[in-house]
Amino acid sequence: MELVPRISRAQSMDALSSQASIGGYKAVLLAAVQLPKYFPMLTTAAGTIAPAKVLVIGAGVAGLQAIATARRLGAVVEAFDVRPEVKEQVQSLGAQFIDVSFEEDTRGEGGYAKELSQAAQEHTQQVLTAHVQQSDVVITTAQVPGKRAPRIVTEAMVSGMKPGSVVVDMAADQGGNCAYSEAGATVVHHGVTIMGPINLPATVAADASQLYAKNISALLKLMVKDGALALDFDDEIISGACVTYGGEIRNERVKSMLETAAV
Ligand code: NAI
Repeated sequence: MELVPRISRAQSMDALSSQASIGGYKAVLLAAVQLPKYFPMLTTAAGTIAPAKVLVIGAGVAGLQAIATARRLGAVVEAFDVRPEVKEQVQSLGAQFIDVSFEEDTRGEGGYAKELSQAAQEHTQQVLTAHVQQSDVVITTAQVPGKRAPRIVTEAMVSGMKPGSVVVDMAADQGGNCAYSEAGATVVHHGVTIMGPINLPATVAADASQLYAKNISALLKLMVKDGALALDFDDEIISGACVTYGGEIRNERVKSMLETAAV
């Protein structure tokens, strides 16, 4: 399922998107429960509460849903991504985009990000430090296909965050976007709670299953004609999603992964 090409025609079969979106939603809810503050601004007889500040790092499918969810809860949201084209999507959800001008091309193949050079990583950290430290909640979702998740939130950034702040690292099981995160665990450093949840879609099981089932049935409809398997390898969805057929490894990404593993 994860090899299904991410093209418009395959959107109904895109399990990475349907599940990542659920993850982004749930990450914000976990943060809201953990944070010792309200998300929305409230004006009450007992005083006015300022809205929580949420920073979302990585504005792909999960990050955009995290932004939308945090906005719905009334937080003030900022977001950062290395791909400049997401700026408008971020703004259309009512969040502020943190513009880090890069001197190198940060766009990889297929609409994904590239791994940043050392210089670009340091530049990013300089710009992001103040934003991380002013935030009540940081949600990280940054991934680069085929690589360990980029380390973006450093020990130094965490040590300058306000006590009680929360980091939810959605990349914890890919190596982590945050220095202290541990996959499947919640840890506290410098008074900051760092959560590394794994398999968030499973915690919204009913809807995750419904969407995943729809993804599978849409793919099967393309593969089955009159009740029999009919694989059209001229169709880029079929050829892209097929790992092996007739004793041959057909998928280029899988082929190169196996070649690398053999070396
Ligand atoms: P992903 O899970 O690989 O990465 C999440 C986000 O992290 C991406 O937006 C990436 O740019 C960002 N990122 C990587 N390194 C970073 C760093 N150092 N700092 C900050 N952010 C960093 O990506 P995802 O969410 O699976 O999809 C990303 C893109 O794939 C989409 O925005 C779109 O272009 C394309 N896509 C196309 C679809 C379609 O046309 N049907 C469906 C889904 C995705």
